[in-house]
Amino acid sequence: MNDPSTVTTTRDGLEPEIDPVPKGVWQRLRHTEVWQSVFRHPQLDTPRGRALQSFSNVFLHVYPVKVPSRVLRLRYSWRLGYIATVLFTILLVTGIYLMFFYTPSVTSAYGDMQELRTDVGFGQLIRNVHRWSAHLMVLVVVLHLVRVFYAGAYKRPRQFNWVLGMGLLVITLAFSFTGYLLPWDQLSYWAVTVGTNLVGYVPVFGGILSDLLLGGPQIGQATLRRFYTLHVAVLPLALALVLMIHIWRVRKDGFAVHRGSSGAFSEEATQRPGATDPATDQPVDMEVDGTKRVRLLGVVDRESVTAEERLTDDSVFTWPHLLVRHVVVGLGVVATVLALGVAFSAPLRSIANPNLTPEPAKAPWYFVGLQELLSHFDPLVAGILVPAGVLITLMLLPYVDRNPATESRNRKFAIAAFSAVLLIAVTLTVIGALFRGPGWTFVAPWDHSYLEL
Ligand code: HEM
Repeated sequence: MNDPSTVTTTRDGLEPEIDPVPKGVWQRLRHTEVWQSVFRHPQLDTPRGRALQSFSNVFLHVYPVKVPSRVLRLRYSWRLGYIATVLFTILLVTGIYLMFFYTPSVTSAYGDMQELRTDVGFGQLIRNVHRWSAHLMVLVVVLHLVRVFYAGAYKRPRQFNWVLGMGLLVITLAFSFTGYLLPWDQLSYWAVTVGTNLVGYVPVFGGILSDLLLGGPQIGQATLRRFYTLHVAVLPLALALVLMIHIWRVRKDGFAVHRGSSGAFSEEATQRPGATDPATDQPVDMEVDGTKRVRLLGVVDRESVTAEERLTDDSVFTWPHLLVRHVVVGLGVVATVLALGVAFSAPLRSIANPNLTPEPAKAPWYFVGLQELLSHFDPLVAGILVPAGVLITLMLLPYVDRNPATESRNRKFAIAAFSAVLLIAVTLTVIGALFRGPGWTFVAPWDHSYLEL
């Protein structure tokens, strides 16, 4: 922010200028060549000054200078996409720390995990935080998908961003799954065995795919090296790249709002003479608090809110309004994973033993719903056709669902179908995770819990 005492002159007749002879250590510091080479222009507390700050700062530049005020509301997005981004950052930082102490070798991996506990400064805590962040990231990304679906935010012009999001979901699952094997204990070995067995059921290519993934007939040194390379190099790069495009497109597509074919934000409703703006109940194209509803001209899709539904006074500066909220949520996420890491340690069972199958051998929790399905149906159906069908249908959803409405009362079929699939997936996961014991028999979780995280 600008110190008013130093603002004395004007530039272009538009902007105040900083006093060339500053007083005080802070002001002097900001006038040194070093400071000004880093922060390239005066920090002026004016619309133009703030815009310039945003454009010239690599971090602020990710954000738009202004956002529609509704974006500030928590229930607009529940900040789930942002929380997933924070979790990914925590995973990168903690993962790099762990890499200093881990070798992907079947003879030393397990010992390295033990040493994290005993010999490495904060080793166990960092491992715990890494593991909790990974679990939470899977959960948060799924919740983000669910939120985007119910908001109808995958519709024109965001169809492709939804597809990119599906790519991010697959990468996130692959990330978690490849990491699961690295401790090389009984839990990781058998969870990954159950998961990778599914690949063998793929028609025609099952054998080739399984060989490619495992590097041999069963999980061994080649598998560990492959999973490690995927986990620390291929998947982080892929996720970072797709995420960059995903976030860039969020900006370019504008921020989604409800728009219905016959609903409040439908073109018909907002363009007929005398129509009212559903957000304000004011007549469209009329004065609202002294500002007029406008259509902004520019290279922007006419369907995006930027083009259609923004009022001239509807936007607020990203800094400080949105950024302060992001900092608070980010700190909250860090505090949460730290607290979980302190309270619950990541498990380490006995060293992996291919000849001793634990009972029950469960897949990681996010695949345990599939394992439950497998116990009822043919592996080809439950392990391949159903998950592939759901994934492909979800990918194509924005192109299949031609209904432009975004509010639930005008998209009852899509909401009912999606909710049914979601309910089945959650039920199967809960049964598989909590109600299954040795021999995949039914157990009550309050008698004994076989859930391993
Ligand atoms: C690593 C995983 C992901 C990350 C880090 C991520 C990040 C983000 C962020 C930061 C936003 C903007 C704010 C927000 O809506 O929360 C966003 C929006 C969006 N995401 Fe994701 N996302 C991920 C996965 C997904 C998935 C799985 C989908 C759906 C298949 C998806 C679809 C979308 C769409 C369509 C938007 C625009 C929503 C709107 O404008 O309201 N994303 N994402």
